[in-house]
Amino acid sequence: MPISIFPVTPRFAAEIGDIELSQPLDAATLEATRDAFATFGVLVFPAQNLTVQQHLAFARNFGPLEVTVQRALRTEKLRVPEQIADIANMDAEGSLWKKESRLRLFQMGNRLWHTDSSFKAPSGYASMLYARSVAPIGGHTEFADMRAACDALPAATKARLQGLIAEHSLMYSRRRLGFTEFTAEEKVAFAPVRRPLLRRIPESGRETLYIASHIGRIEGMPDSETEALVAELVAHATQRQFVYTHRWRVGDLVMWDNRCTLHRGTEYEDTRWPRDLQRATTSDRLDVFGVAEKKSALAADY
Ligand code: OGA
Ligand code: MN
Repeated sequence: MPISIFPVTPRFAAEIGDIELSQPLDAATLEATRDAFATFGVLVFPAQNLTVQQHLAFARNFGPLEVTVQRALRTEKLRVPEQIADIANMDAEGSLWKKESRLRLFQMGNRLWHTDSSFKAPSGYASMLYARSVAPIGGHTEFADMRAACDALPAATKARLQGLIAEHSLMYSRRRLGFTEFTAEEKVAFAPVRRPLLRRIPESGRETLYIASHIGRIEGMPDSETEALVAELVAHATQRQFVYTHRWRVGDLVMWDNRCTLHRGTEYEDTRWPRDLQRATTSDRLDVFGVAEKKSALAADY
């Protein structure tokens, strides 16, 4: 049976039915899923039932798996395998985190508009976030369509952005949250990478903005101007007409294209309700930006 596609809007976000992600996908199903992904940028697969290994096996259809940044950040042991980014509000033993825990403060970065792993080389391509438990209220995830936002830019603005290169680092987004201390290892793992502000996505041919809270510098621009420009672009790109809000149900797997979307988590009572979301992310190609660069420490293995 072919997959069913229910678009949320004609060109952004779709719900996908008649597919079991726990099973290996045949070539036709995979191709239909890839086509839908290229068109809609965000796909929602409701009512899935996945083990961690099945989640990772599905993710591998979309490229090599990344290793979580938490490997570089957490001193205590991980709750999940290192190919899973642990988005839950729990420690390794499964207890809810405390208000002041370093992990909690660090994960606040997920509340800022961002795209996953723009700060890695190669950068993030597809993220697949799976809900094992959800908060009864709050804790949604919002997605913004950077292709539509790019299309809606005034021509003069677009012309100014053409050719501009931004530096992305996890240290820049964490700095926005008040983190200023990084260990020598973190400085190596999160050394800035250079990314154009505009890029074209090969599968759809569409031009897109490539912005994130991870941007800390734009080459040839004073830092204060960079700050203002990034804030303006994020404000433009996250106007409600570009945004899909996902309200989680247990068993949802939501997949997004990090090359052309932004996302952020919304607030919830995270010291009260367990919310167990787990993410697998695959890498883009290393050569995609046409700049010579070394793989970053936590990048996937090509
Ligand atoms: C993520 C993320 C936000 C959320 O999984 O990459 O940013 O809703 N999640 O928790
Ligand atoms: Mn994220």
